[in-house]
Amino acid sequence: MERVGPVTDPAPGENAVPLPFPQARPEVEALTAYSAPLEGRRGLLRLDFNENTVGPSPQVVAAIRAMPADHFAIYPEYDGLREAVVGSLLATAGAEAPQVPGAPAPAGVSGLGPDHIGLFNGVDAAIHAVFHAYGDRGDRLLTTSPTFGYYTPCAQMQGMEIEAIPYALPDFAFPLEALTAALLRPGVAPPKLLLICNPNNPTGTRLAPDQILALAAAAPQTLVVVDELYEAFTGDSLMPGLLGGRDPFAAYPNLVVLRSLAKTAGLAGLRIGFAIGAPAVVDRISRVTGPYDINSLAVTAALAALADQAYVDAYVAEVLGARDWLVAQLVQAGVRHHSAGGNYLLIWPQGDPRAVEQALRQAGILVRSMAGKPLIDGSLRVSLGTKAQMEQFWRAYGAIEGLA
Ligand SMILES: Cc1ncc(COP(=O)(O)O)c(C=O)c1O
Repeated sequence: MERVGPVTDPAPGENAVPLPFPQARPEVEALTAYSAPLEGRRGLLRLDFNENTVGPSPQVVAAIRAMPADHFAIYPEYDGLREAVVGSLLATAGAEAPQVPGAPAPAGVSGLGPDHIGLFNGVDAAIHAVFHAYGDRGDRLLTTSPTFGYYTPCAQMQGMEIEAIPYALPDFAFPLEALTAALLRPGVAPPKLLLICNPNNPTGTRLAPDQILALAAAAPQTLVVVDELYEAFTGDSLMPGLLGGRDPFAAYPNLVVLRSLAKTAGLAGLRIGFAIGAPAVVDRISRVTGPYDINSLAVTAALAALADQAYVDAYVAEVLGARDWLVAQLVQAGVRHHSAGGNYLLIWPQGDPRAVEQALRQAGILVRSMAGKPLIDGSLRVSLGTKAQMEQFWRAYGAIEGLA
């Protein structure tokens, strides 16, 4: 039998040669893991990860507190959660639900059902599962740049090639022409995956739903994944337009919409996200997850959060008001900024961005440096919270930058 380590271990400190460890797949050996600076954030004003800055609905907190202890001892149950997601999607789109769940929808009533909903341990896990299920070595991912950072490592771990089309300066407009050309390049195999973050994190760029549907219709061999994490702040979701028909995805079987309860409903720490698409596609994406990847606390919290849409609506309205206020201050002070969709905006400080980021941290406020990101190097991404939180940010920022 072949030995892989030394025959006798040396005494501690004496010629210690590390034992070889088993190599992972070549793609994993070459991978730089997606890492976000997520430690030591409690107690600070967190404007660095686009989270809900005030926490979830009191109904969520009450539901979690009411969980009997024996529920912690048993594996999670998901019954009713997909139905609750369907109900929430229909209610926010103003669509009518079928009278009998699961029954074929009569004309004018949406056929969206539980089979269209995939449950995941956050949208990050949904993204990972999409790549795991669909991305093969040498396949192409088509996306935009700069965009959400987790798409790249997911593609790399599958050995995929990445084609990222830059947003168009000066306003980070969606590069529709260039992206369409890359999607439909004659004589070249279509990309396996097209990932569109709408509105885009971090540029806020928006693409109209009908333009996304046109892309999906033009490339039936490509799975078109639309990351709608921040759609509540723009109202650009694909869902209302899809819900009218008897089968919402019949005309777009290659389309998947991603939604999360992390950002608006305030459940980022509990990890719950959804993939919505044709049942066959949702089934494939769900095959590569574990049977109990979403824990019982997340299920309980999600059911309570979905039942309190008024809380989310009020939070979104507060954030949009706070954004208007902050943008007015930025304009008045002549600060270069970019604000489009989403609960975040970009600010270019006059001083060294890293120093400004650090000084804000000293003042108890976290923001995210965009250093090294194409097109937006030198900017800070500032998440939007309540008006009072934006006032706190603005006071600190003004003092650091010497604004009058
Ligand atoms: C565009 C985008 N997609 C997905 C995620 C991950 O969402 P979740 O917390 O549901 O995993 C984020 C989080 O920052 C994001 O910005």
